Amino acid sequence: MWAPDSWRQKKQIQLPVYPNLEKLSQVEKTLGGYPPLVFAGETRILKRRLAQVSEGKAFLLQGGDCAESFQDFKANSIRDTFRILLQMAAILTLSEKRPVIKLGRVAGQFAKPRSNDQEVRGELSLPSYRGDIINGFDFAKQDRTPDPERMLRAYTQAASTLNLLRAFSQGGYADLHQVHAWNLDFVKKSVQNSNYESIAKRLDETLAFMEAIGITSESSAQIRVVEFFTSHEALLLPYEQALLRQDSTTARLQDGYEGDWYACAAHFLWIGERTRDIDSAQIEFLRGVKNPIGLKCGPSMTPDDLIKLIDVLSPENEAGRLTLITRMGHQNLEKFLPKLIRRVRKEGRSVVWCCDPMHGNTITTSNGYKTRKFAHILGEVNAFKEVHESEGTYAGGVHFELTGKDVVECLGGDRVITEENLAAGGYETLCDPRLNATQALELAFQLCKTK
Ligand code: PEP
Ligand code: CO
Repeated sequence: MWAPDSWRQKKQIQLPVYPNLEKLSQVEKTLGGYPPLVFAGETRILKRRLAQVSEGKAFLLQGGDCAESFQDFKANSIRDTFRILLQMAAILTLSEKRPVIKLGRVAGQFAKPRSNDQEVRGELSLPSYRGDIINGFDFAKQDRTPDPERMLRAYTQAASTLNLLRAFSQGGYADLHQVHAWNLDFVKKSVQNSNYESIAKRLDETLAFMEAIGITSESSAQIRVVEFFTSHEALLLPYEQALLRQDSTTARLQDGYEGDWYACAAHFLWIGERTRDIDSAQIEFLRGVKNPIGLKCGPSMTPDDLIKLIDVLSPENEAGRLTLITRMGHQNLEKFLPKLIRRVRKEGRSVVWCCDPMHGNTITTSNGYKTRKFAHILGEVNAFKEVHESEGTYAGGVHFELTGKDVVECLGGDRVITEENLAAGGYETLCDPRLNATQALELAFQLCKTK
């Protein structure tokens, strides 16, 4: 039997050990009394959109920071991430001729799985940094000790971020007439500018035509507003449980049923590669919520493992419920993905296939920087599309770690970034390397090209 806290009896993977349990339970109680960040009905809309993706009628664009941070909590950072996603979506919509579902890794993407529990520097061994919702980045005992109160700060930041995203989505910023204004100053200086401006021009012409026949921002919400959804990895379960809510609109008077459970910290939650053990607390938690959910699938995932996980996570086989986010690495994808696709198809399971070309392609340079090569990222997405094409399935979406800022974290792209550049400033991430705005745009254009 599933219950909001049944995950506590399961395998605890990647969960922090809080020294002060009393403080932890106080924080859980406080958060439990706060308003939910999203409404169940919104997550059902997203599930319907993802059902369209599973039928090949829409495309999923998921992206944002590897990890949000307390320090970089600024309107401009939120806006820049939002607008690069809008720009990419505009490019992909014009090329795919299908709706693009915009899903940010934002407003709650704070907790990080780590390969090692401890980090050792010289004589000192301290808990690894696990994201600002858990502990601090600085290598000092006080910072690295998990502190439950960080969850309250993360909630406040998520609420405020979401508020701004809702304002941008609804308040005119996302109006398609703004397509030129979305372009960032530094992008204007890059090779991508002329590609982007020609897309924007096509859009201008289309909008002018539509206006001539009476379809305007005033008459049509589709031009004026966007649907924007939020997502993060369901890792820190005390936080996620505290934000679970029962949806009263699904309650039934006749048998006293109090309603379905929804994880209300984001519209969409996913299970990471390191916590997808069938007995993990994270799998137990997510199986009981009605949100659309994701599952990362790395190269070690076997078809049997996958079917067992689908049995648990999507027993009703509802379209839009489960997105499989494959992250195999550019050299591994052709070897491992076809087996998964064939098995899922043979068993008649409804899923969305989405490609994360970031997490299987991380390397460390000789000068100690974690980075990714643009060519590998593009290579994995292209291989993903080709495999789906030859299997007769639909390559439904992409999942990127990106930022709208002009950072220097991934190698390559048309403004060639080399290993030496990483050390010369602009490497800002506290976690994984992100595509910068020009690299993200270039990728969107390249994705259209291979069609
Ligand atoms: C992530 O998406 O930031 C992440 C840690 O991915 P994965 O679980 O696929 O390694
Ligand atoms: Co990452």
